[in-house]
Amino acid sequence: MVDEDFQGGEMRAIQTVTDVNLAERSVLLRVDFNVPLKDGQVMDDTRIREALPTIRHLLKRSAKVILMSHLGRPDGQVDLRYSLRPVARELSKLLSRPVLFIENCIGADVGQKLEELDEGSVILLENLRFHGGEEANDPAFAAQLASYGDAYVNDAFGSAHRAHASTVGVPALLPIKVAGFLMQKELDFLGAKTAQPERPFTVILGGLKVGDKIGVIDALLDRCDCMLIGGAMAFTFLKAMGMDVGKSPVEKDRLEDVVHAMEKAKKLGVELLLPVDTLCTDRLDLAAGTVGELRQWTGSIVEDGWIGVDIGQLTVERYARAIAAAKTIFWNGPMGIFEIESCSKGTFAIAGHVADADATSIIGGGDSVRAIHQSGRVEDITFISTGGGASLEFLEGKVLPGVAALNSKDA
Ligand code: ADP
Ligand code: 3PG
Ligand code: MG
Repeated sequence: MVDEDFQGGEMRAIQTVTDVNLAERSVLLRVDFNVPLKDGQVMDDTRIREALPTIRHLLKRSAKVILMSHLGRPDGQVDLRYSLRPVARELSKLLSRPVLFIENCIGADVGQKLEELDEGSVILLENLRFHGGEEANDPAFAAQLASYGDAYVNDAFGSAHRAHASTVGVPALLPIKVAGFLMQKELDFLGAKTAQPERPFTVILGGLKVGDKIGVIDALLDRCDCMLIGGAMAFTFLKAMGMDVGKSPVEKDRLEDVVHAMEKAKKLGVELLLPVDTLCTDRLDLAAGTVGELRQWTGSIVEDGWIGVDIGQLTVERYARAIAAAKTIFWNGPMGIFEIESCSKGTFAIAGHVADADATSIIGGGDSVRAIHQSGRVEDITFISTGGGASLEFLEGKVLPGVAALNSKDA
């Protein structure tokens, strides 16, 4: 049954690149090429590769493909550490064809340069956030960008929660505004597949802050059969149940929220599981990535002065059973401080169980995605979202401005 309270974009069928004729048009394609760079090299090209199907589709139709993206947060200033030039090089390699990089995204000569190019060209404009007008959704900035194209395609799911010029202002000015294949895939997996999941539906939530995820916890409790909690945020739940958590992180201002979540789970008959054992240390230096002595406490209790850093073995075994029984799995948030090897066992064990499961498995969130990559099991996951904040906001049921800006199927 469709959850009627759910307001996410998947409730409205959005037009996609296959619904409109884009042949020989100048297409403004918003992509999320906000990728990690180091010494001018792209460290992870996932977001670039994921945009290729849409780019290839447009090229097959002899469209002129004008790519727009942001990278990092240069705050409206030109800062070449955030230049998209390395991304243009990487894209050119992946497409096996030239990609013209234009050193500004607006300006007197940009329109002229674009005019001179033939259909079938691929162009990447410099970082949109070198101009304050992008994040401010400035009408004049949006109008300049919009003047370069006669159709708009948004494949930047990762940026769809931002109401910026390139996600909202530009489509408002163009009659054709549709989703690319990546956008469509994200909306399908994070939307329909979790709103009408094949059951049992097991949700695994971990990571740092309950505060950031309470909306997701609340929304997913309406849809899942079982919720497994790990990571730092488990301690706020345990504390709310009256357990001793030692010096583990607890968000005091969220104790009431988690009590509500536990009550809601009970009312709805959702099995909400908390760690039954915890790996702890007596000393933690996050910046240095070091821990002191490590011990495992059983029974949801952490001794005085000790800090919980990972779920324990019994918890992994208990959670593994809920994962193996599932037909749909959504995972967000690591089970422990997986960046430190001695605290990473729980996260990687859970990653392995999710990968082994005979289920539709969906993973979202920057650190969780990093963990699954590190575990080497990416191929065994059904869908990995390219969105961080966007995937969480979408799952919460929020309307994403970048999705709301696109034409409906019945338009
Ligand atoms: P995601 O990016 O997947 O949404 P989060 O950003 O919420 O995940 O959380 C990831 C961070 O949570 C990681 O850096 C990890 O080290 C941290 N974390 C997980 N468990 C603990 C813990 N027990 N104590 C402190 N930090 C933790
Ligand atoms: C992301 O990486 O989550 C998106 O590209 C959005 O970036 P932002 O949080 O800087 O808006
Ligand atoms: Mg994170």
